[in-house]
Amino acid sequence: MADLTTNTAGIVSPNPFWLASAPPTNTGDQVARAFDAGWGGAVWKTLGQPIVNVWSRYASMDINGVKMMGLNNIELITDRSLDVNFKEIYEVKKHYPNNAVIVSLMVGSREEFHELVKRSEDAGADGLELNFGCPHGMSERGLGAAVGQVPEYVQQMTEWVKEVSNIPVLVKLTPNVTDIRYPARAAQAGGADGIALINTINSLMSVNLDTFAPNPNVDGLSSHGGYCGPAVKPIALNMLSQITSDPQTAQIPISGIGGVSNWQDAAEFILLGAHSVQVCTAVMHYGFRIVEDMIDGLSNYLDEKAMTLDQLRGQSVERIKNWQELDLNYVINASIDQEKCIGCGICYIACEDGAHQAIFANPMDNGRTHVEINEAACVGCNLCSLVCPVEDCITMVEIPNEFDACSWDDYTTRNGKLAPRAEHEWRPIVGPPKSDI
Ligand SMILES: Cc1cc2nc3c(=O)[nH]c(=O)nc-3n(C[C@H](O)[C@H](O)[C@H](O)COP(=O)(O)O)c2cc1C
Ligand code: SF4
Ligand code: SF4
Repeated sequence: MADLTTNTAGIVSPNPFWLASAPPTNTGDQVARAFDAGWGGAVWKTLGQPIVNVWSRYASMDINGVKMMGLNNIELITDRSLDVNFKEIYEVKKHYPNNAVIVSLMVGSREEFHELVKRSEDAGADGLELNFGCPHGMSERGLGAAVGQVPEYVQQMTEWVKEVSNIPVLVKLTPNVTDIRYPARAAQAGGADGIALINTINSLMSVNLDTFAPNPNVDGLSSHGGYCGPAVKPIALNMLSQITSDPQTAQIPISGIGGVSNWQDAAEFILLGAHSVQVCTAVMHYGFRIVEDMIDGLSNYLDEKAMTLDQLRGQSVERIKNWQELDLNYVINASIDQEKCIGCGICYIACEDGAHQAIFANPMDNGRTHVEINEAACVGCNLCSLVCPVEDCITMVEIPNEFDACSWDDYTTRNGKLAPRAEHEWRPIVGPPKSDI
């Protein structure tokens, strides 16, 4: 099995799978059970001046019967005393010296940071994570995302921590910004050893149509909260790649977070440059044991690829380009495997109404629909292959052509030549003008 030992900004863990700062890391007992299950590290539930929570805290979105594809919470930081938390951190670290314990901090003043840094180090923490991310509750108190949204604050508070810390410091960023590169650069300028992202996305989950009460329902009322879970992974991947492809921050180690549920998700974060990944929602849903499959899956994948974790890391970073650098002469068409097609007609409707009218459909005697691609009209948008319910029934096939690669930049500034585009014939609008009806 491939060695999964990981070093994230000087924080070493036996594998890249960490629990994110959240309910699964509320207590020492939970973190100990997670380490027994195989988790390589844990970021403790954020410490600060303990708060009081509301009772109703979570709401979720199911997609097609799959529960909790998106999770929203209005929970704040730890509601347990600092003394109890630090005692448990000390105990966990004593029992699990090889696992990484990272203490998440959220306070507002230099003095408070200095005190909590010292107490974290005394408790044996391997690293710190500065929570500049929560978009709800704490942000209204001037903390969390209220810091992460202002690069100057990010830099200043990071400097406060770095001036006394003897252990690595990760800065956890909020995704609730226009351009994640600015707070990332600010964290680096403040001396951060690494970055963690993403925290939750500002959201309002749903409204009950009978009672008109929003969810999570706190006696008929609610508040905006933080959104996470599988649904946010694409947003997290994009922000990760923005930082790893920014020349100013490309070298800073990153702990990737957001919608990681299995080893494949983790591998994607690693391919885009993450050193470790953190998981919250999937553990809240399925428990600590999911890490077993994550470890086996990632190890097997590395063995199959004959690569080490370090070799895998960042392999896809260079493949994310600006749009104007993509090849306009890379031509693909949809291709239907008639042996696999069940004649449901879904691809036809999608292409006809929602895309480019490039599928011929004919009703068959058995009530099904025979579908064929009109190659002259297909723009290779992928939509039919995305909606087809049969795996590998519609594949996208490259159509070779004699034209050289031509990007938008080549086309507009270097006299590049474009391959012929798919043509859409004139189609009459069927039926009489509505004004005559
Ligand atoms: C109920 C709940 C509480 C959370 N509390 C914290 C917290 O105290 N500190 C923190 O940095 N992030 C907190 N988070 C955010 C997670 O650490 C993580 O960044 C986010 O959930 C995205 O990961 P996921 O998609 O795996 O859930 C919390 C998330 C949830 C769902
Ligand atoms: S790839 Fe797009 S344009 Fe081509 S057939 Fe499918 S849906 Fe239509
Ligand atoms: S969606 Fe797939 S299975 Fe259904 S008609 Fe189209 S190709 Fe056939």
